[in-house]
Amino acid sequence: MKPYVYITRKLPEETIKDLTELFDVKMWDHEDIPAPREVILKEAQKASALITMLSDKVDEEVLSGESLKVVANLAVGFDNIDLEAATKRGMIVTNTPDVLTETTADLTFSLLMASARRIVEAAEYIKAGKWGGWSPYLLAGHDVYGKTIGIVGMGKIGEAVARRSKGFGMEILYHNRSRKHDAEKELGAVYSSFENLVAKSDFVVSLAPLTPETRNLFTADVFAKMKKSAIFINAGRGPVVDEQALYDALKNGEIAAAGLDVFEKEPISADHPLLELPNVTAIPHIGSASTETRTTMIKLCGANVKAVLTGDSPMTIVNKEVLQ
Ligand code: GLV
Ligand code: GLV
Repeated sequence: MKPYVYITRKLPEETIKDLTELFDVKMWDHEDIPAPREVILKEAQKASALITMLSDKVDEEVLSGESLKVVANLAVGFDNIDLEAATKRGMIVTNTPDVLTETTADLTFSLLMASARRIVEAAEYIKAGKWGGWSPYLLAGHDVYGKTIGIVGMGKIGEAVARRSKGFGMEILYHNRSRKHDAEKELGAVYSSFENLVAKSDFVVSLAPLTPETRNLFTADVFAKMKKSAIFINAGRGPVVDEQALYDALKNGEIAAAGLDVFEKEPISADHPLLELPNVTAIPHIGSASTETRTTMIKLCGANVKAVLTGDSPMTIVNKEVLQ
């Protein structure tokens, strides 16, 4: 019997051809609706491999499948997976780093520019028929060039955002668990304490992964320390932010604006309080969503699954210790 591979979302057939040739592959039927938990639980009991989305909760119960060897997550982040439980069971977890770095940096910088120059608000304004004529301060926003960007979470995506910032003549501060000497040398990025970064930056950009240390990192106190003209961008993970505190800071003018690709609890609905605020640019977790990159990410998940099920080393393993 061929190993059984379950994919929790409908993906284009041609992107998983390598898998369907070798294994018995089944996909959830919908592109936009997540597979219900009962379905994932049932399939995990039969599967040798799962390809999962960042919106799937892959906990100990899912990981209890007897034949399960590998979970390939279609994302660079893997906070949706109980890594400890997987490692304890000797299961391999893989993610999709590197291939999405530049695409996600493009989106992060777009969100920064859109927030600074009020692009979405301006586009809505013109479509609503409000453009009565030119006026000196009509939809006037904030400059980007020459300003200070503070990047919290200086992984590969953070560095790619820093490269873009250098092109805009920005001063670059960053905060990270480890120093990035290359970025310091090549881009003039300056390592900063979190407190100093928050106080000095015109753009505070969070790309931090969700970990126990980063959960709820951006609190009311933190927003209070930012400049009144600061723009907060989050393209990492929603739960690093106290959303109520962010709402209050935006509403009370403690900071100028926010651009958000991620939220505490996704998806958010149209009546989410943050969406009432004109100074919020909100988009639905599309950081790596270019057609090219999503296809590459899917293929990387497939290649990881194929490697594990045929006894090779996966390309992008998260829990290397299971290989020892
Ligand atoms: C997206 O958020 C990812 O982790 O790839
Ligand atoms: C990983 O977290 C990255 O930023 O590439």
